[in-house]
Amino acid sequence: MELVGKVTVVTGAAGGIGKALAEKFHQEGARVVLADLDEAALQLVAGPLNSKRPDSALVFAANLGTEAANAALVKTAIDTFGTVDLFFANAGVGSGSDLSTPEDVWETAFNINFNAHRWAAKYLLPEWLARGDGYFCSTASAAGLLSQIGSAPYTVTKHSAVAFAEWLSLTYGARGIKVSCLCPQGVNTNMLKGADVSNDGPSGNVVRVAGAVLEPAEVADVCVQVIRDETFLILPHPEVAQYMVLKATERDRWLAGMRKLQKRVLGF
Ligand SMILES: NC(=O)c1ccc[n+]([C@@H]2O[C@H](COP(=O)([O-])OP(=O)(O)OC[C@H]3O[C@@H](n4cnc5c(N)ncnc54)[C@H](O)[C@@H]3O)[C@@H](O)[C@H]2O)c1
Repeated sequence: MELVGKVTVVTGAAGGIGKALAEKFHQEGARVVLADLDEAALQLVAGPLNSKRPDSALVFAANLGTEAANAALVKTAIDTFGTVDLFFANAGVGSGSDLSTPEDVWETAFNINFNAHRWAAKYLLPEWLARGDGYFCSTASAAGLLSQIGSAPYTVTKHSAVAFAEWLSLTYGARGIKVSCLCPQGVNTNMLKGADVSNDGPSGNVVRVAGAVLEPAEVADVCVQVIRDETFLILPHPEVAQYMVLKATERDRWLAGMRKLQKRVLGF
């Protein structure tokens, strides 16, 4: 899909990867709906975009970890711009660790890292299926294909995000629905900066770096290329494909390697 003239929605657009995606889509000629929890930060992203092209960027502030907020986001985008061509479910949290993680942290992780994708798709698909066109992108993580050392909630919710994106693609691909899933390793964002390597500090954020740390703008460039090609997997760190091959073909060797890595990172 070429983005010029398209209506796009990006969640988690107040900063990091989402902000870079929204800015890149806008630069490519799209109108953008910027959604996140943080209205003030969203306004700071939207301001320069609207200065460049009036009424081309809309702010939608809400907790997207609910069905109602996702329904309202889709409705607002359609009411304002007439349609949604591409929806990028990117908002996410990196919280949680092991079996001691409190239930509410699991719930928040599931709601924003996975359920939000399902809820958005639920309200997008009727219009998309009626016109035989629509593009759903989601941000999972390399952790959704491999694993996340130190975080069961992140691993499991990101696997759910990948599984859901695959299911959408195979179920509706023949009816004009395009799906891509972004699965990066380290990206230089607040989530990564807040990573709590000791695993017992205040942030509870356990995203751990593997591979090169990319800038959000580099990730957004790769996304636009993959969206142009309309292929499924967005791998800004191409080596992740090799890790997937090892995981698929030699599962015990892959697990042994991950245990060694865990010992290096966590000390056990
Ligand atoms: N940074 C990395 O290394 C990395 C690697 C792989 C995947 N990811 C994924 O990329 C996505 C973007 O993260 P980022 O790295 O840009 O971090 P970030 O913290 O800068 O961005 C996440 C955004 O999501 C928003 N958000 C969180 N919960 C929300 C909610 N309930 N409702 C609305 N907005 C909410 C936050 O306010 C924030 O602006 C996430 O899904 C993350 O899991 C990040």
